[in-house]
Amino acid sequence: MAIERTLSIIKPDAIKRNLTNAINTAIANSDLHIIAQKRIRMTKEQANIFYDSHKDRPFFDELVDFMISSPVVVQVLEGESAISVYRNLMGDTNPARAADGTIRKIFAKSIGENSVHGSDSAVAARVEIAQFFSDKEIVGCLRQHLE
Ligand code: RTP
Ligand code: MG
Repeated sequence: MAIERTLSIIKPDAIKRNLTNAINTAIANSDLHIIAQKRIRMTKEQANIFYDSHKDRPFFDELVDFMISSPVVVQVLEGESAISVYRNLMGDTNPARAADGTIRKIFAKSIGENSVHGSDSAVAARVEIAQFFSDKEIVGCLRQHLE
């Protein structure tokens, strides 16, 4: 077990329904700390880079258009096993298959408009956090307390 950081994005469908605070409450209730957060309008170039690993999937264009369709909130979460804890809190990509109590079960509209993103590995977390935040913008808390 280790303290980790992960990138979370509150996606356009959730932003449009004013769900940022509800999702942040679920994050806090899972013992994850929001150590950086900003609301941005993602550019097409940023979305293309962010989802580059999906560029050959049939839903890629739809996904990019969705991610730039309204502002999003990007955030860095820190906590014990933050990457897997947040993936479990998010629930399955398809809300119809997501477990009860997960963010996607409660809030997601569809497999595409599924309210949140979370990094799926330590490598992805490092790359994704660096895409949206400089080191100066991230002010951790747990790491300093534990060291
Ligand atoms: P995310 O990357 O956003 O955290 O989601 P994930 O790991 O659960 O799912 P992933 O397979 O990485 O897919 C990325 C996002 O693409 C959209 N998607 N649409 N229409 C479709 O069949 C479809 N499949 C995936 C979703 O927004 C998904 O979160
Ligand atoms: Mg993914």
